[in-house]
Amino acid sequence: MRQMMVAGNWKMHGSVAFTADMVTTLATKVAVKEGVTLLVCPPAVYLSQAVAVATQSGIHIGAQNLASIAAPGAYTGEVAGFMLSDIGCQYVIVGHSERRALYGETNDVVAQKTKVALDSGLTPLICVGETLDQREAGQAEAVIAAQLDAVSAVIGVDGWEQSIVAYEPVWAIGTGRTASPEQAQEIHAFIRSRLAALDINMAASMKILYGGSVKPDNAALIFSQPDVDGGLIGGAALNADDFSRIYACAQPK
Ligand code: PGA
Repeated sequence: MRQMMVAGNWKMHGSVAFTADMVTTLATKVAVKEGVTLLVCPPAVYLSQAVAVATQSGIHIGAQNLASIAAPGAYTGEVAGFMLSDIGCQYVIVGHSERRALYGETNDVVAQKTKVALDSGLTPLICVGETLDQREAGQAEAVIAAQLDAVSAVIGVDGWEQSIVAYEPVWAIGTGRTASPEQAQEIHAFIRSRLAALDINMAASMKILYGGSVKPDNAALIFSQPDVDGGLIGGAALNADDFSRIYACAQPK
């Protein structure tokens, strides 16, 4: 049986008041189910606060990014993986398409950050996905294969065993345009088969989340696909009611 996860990515939204309100509301409103991890990923400056508010609630806290360098040093503005662990963060999103597109993160940088996350005791949520142009050119699988293979080359099977994948078609993020359940299933199955070529057991137990305009009214159908193990939620994670309704749609498989 595979575990499920519903993760909220706040992106660059929030405040002290919002963090207090959202995490408290989720903690009181959502009955965290066995086998369905509830993860909230606020901006870095609110992580400590979120960890404190989430104590004993069953809610997990993750970061949205980390430095590609592991050791302390002269890297102005960066946040290290060991610092995230130090404050009680357990997860970190790596390779989100916004970081790839806006901050020039290549497949190799994403692979390096994944390694640093693992070495810091964090569980990386590794995002992969194709743009609309790539999909229309019939390149979706090749793009995703390259994204996965770059990570495989650095972390190997052992690293994958400690990781989570999020399939986020770039054309579905924040656009209101969701992949159909069939489109999501097709790519999720492809991701699992690519990982199965490395190790069949690792691939069978890999959590593969779908992200891209997941809302309360489409979550149940997407999550019911055989290779979809939950969701990475952006916009709808900024509303406690929507996010808890999405969480309610996730049942362990
Ligand atoms: P969205 O974002 O749910 O707003 O499409 C998903 C994500 O970027 O993680």
